[in-house]
Amino acid sequence: LVPSTYNAAEMGHADYGGGPSGGHEHHHRSIADLTGPRTGTPDVAVTLTARQERKDFATYTLNGSSPGPLIRAESGDLVEVTLVNESVQDGATLHWHGIDVPNGEDGVAGVTQEAVPIGGRHVYRFRAEEGGTYWYHSHQVSSEVVKGGLFGPIVIAPKTPGEVIATIHTYDGKRTINGRAGVQRVDLPTGTTARVRVINTDNAILRVGLSTPYRVVAVDGREVDGPTTVTRAYALAAGGRVDLEAVVPAGGMRFVAGTSALSVGIGPVDAQPAELPAETVDLLSYGTPKPIGFDPAKADRRFEYRIGRRPGFLDGMPGLWWTINGHKFPDVPMFMVAEGDVVRMTIANTSGQAHPMHLHGHHAVVLSRNGHPSTGAPWWTDTLEVGNDETYEIAFVADNPGIWMDHCHNLPHASEGLMTHLMYA
Ligand code: C2O
Ligand code: CU
Repeated sequence: LVPSTYNAAEMGHADYGGGPSGGHEHHHRSIADLTGPRTGTPDVAVTLTARQERKDFATYTLNGSSPGPLIRAESGDLVEVTLVNESVQDGATLHWHGIDVPNGEDGVAGVTQEAVPIGGRHVYRFRAEEGGTYWYHSHQVSSEVVKGGLFGPIVIAPKTPGEVIATIHTYDGKRTINGRAGVQRVDLPTGTTARVRVINTDNAILRVGLSTPYRVVAVDGREVDGPTTVTRAYALAAGGRVDLEAVVPAGGMRFVAGTSALSVGIGPVDAQPAELPAETVDLLSYGTPKPIGFDPAKADRRFEYRIGRRPGFLDGMPGLWWTINGHKFPDVPMFMVAEGDVVRMTIANTSGQAHPMHLHGHHAVVLSRNGHPSTGAPWWTDTLEVGNDETYEIAFVADNPGIWMDHCHNLPHASEGLMTHLMYA
C-alpha cells in the first residue's frame, strides 16, 4: 500500500494522508484485545527510520528529520507504522502519546516490547479512534532520546484549510516550532478558521496563545464542550496538547510560544509581534458541563498518588529521588485494577516542584483541584500538570486491559523515580 501524501511544504513536515473517515468510537476492550488488528489492509502505512545523527539542532532523527514526519489518520483508519532502527545505539520504540491504543502497541521498552536494536524493526498496528492531536516518541532512554529528537506529531482528523501544526521542542538550549527557531509565517486568507494544534514535547510547562481572541477547542485529543472566547494565555503541560481556534483577521494574527521571538504569523500579512498576557485559562471552570458517561461517586477503586522526594544516590552521587507514596521506582507498588472498574485517584504533590503526570492508555477526567470541584466542561486529560502543593482528584474507567505506565513527563524526573504502573489483574 502506498500512503497518499500531502505536500511536504506544510511547515517542514511531510504529511501522510489517511482514507475517508469511518466514524469509529472508542470501544471498551477486553483482555482478548491486547494487540491491535494483526490482519487487514492498513489505511495509513508509514515506515519511520530512526537514526542517531546530527541534523540542524537534533541528535536523533526519524526519516532524516526532527520532528519526524506528521502521521495523519482519520477515525476508523487502520494505522500501520514500521519502526526501523538504523543507528540508535540504545535501541528505540514508538509510544503513541495520548492515543489509547491496545497495550501491545504502546511502545514501552521493557514492558510491552523489547527496544528495537540497530538493524531491527517493529510493526505497530492500531485502529485510530478518537480524533485529535497527539504525538509519538521513543520510550527507551526517553529522557535523552526524546530531547535529542526522536519524536513527531500524529493527528487523527481530516486536514482542514486552516490547520496549523506547532510541535514545540527545545534541543540543547534551542527552542523551536517544528524544528525551526525564530519567527515563521503561514499564509492563510482572512476569514479562514485557523486551528492551531499545539504539542509540547519539552520537559517544562509552556505558555502559548494567539494574539487575537481565541477558543480552546480541544485538550489532550478531546474536544472541549462549549468553548468560550478568551484573551488569556494557555499553560500547556509538558507532553500535553491543545487546539486553539480563531478566525483569521484582516491584519493577520500570531501564534506565540512563550515569547513573540518564537511565534508563527498566521494570515494574509505578517501580524504585529505580540506578547502573551499574564493570566491563563483555567480549565476547571472553562466550557459547559456535560455528563461524562460514568459515575465517579460509585468508584470501585480509590488510589492515592502522593508525590514527594527523599535523599538517595543518583548515578553514584548523593541526590534527591522523586517518590510516589514514599517509594521510588521500581519499589512503588503498582496500582491494581480490574477490567471495567471505575477508578478514582487523588494526586497530591508536596515535592517542591511541579510534575506533568502522564497516564498511558487512558483518559481521565478531572473532578477537583485543591478541593474545588470542576464547574466547566468535562476536562479529559492524559497529561496533567500538578503544581507544587496542589491536589487533584481524577477518575477514569479501566477499559483498556494491560500494563500501563503512569509517570512524570518531565522525563528526567521519571528516570529519577517518578514512575509507576497501572496493572490489570
Ligand atoms: Cu509520552 Cu510514557 O510517555
Ligand atoms: Cu516531574
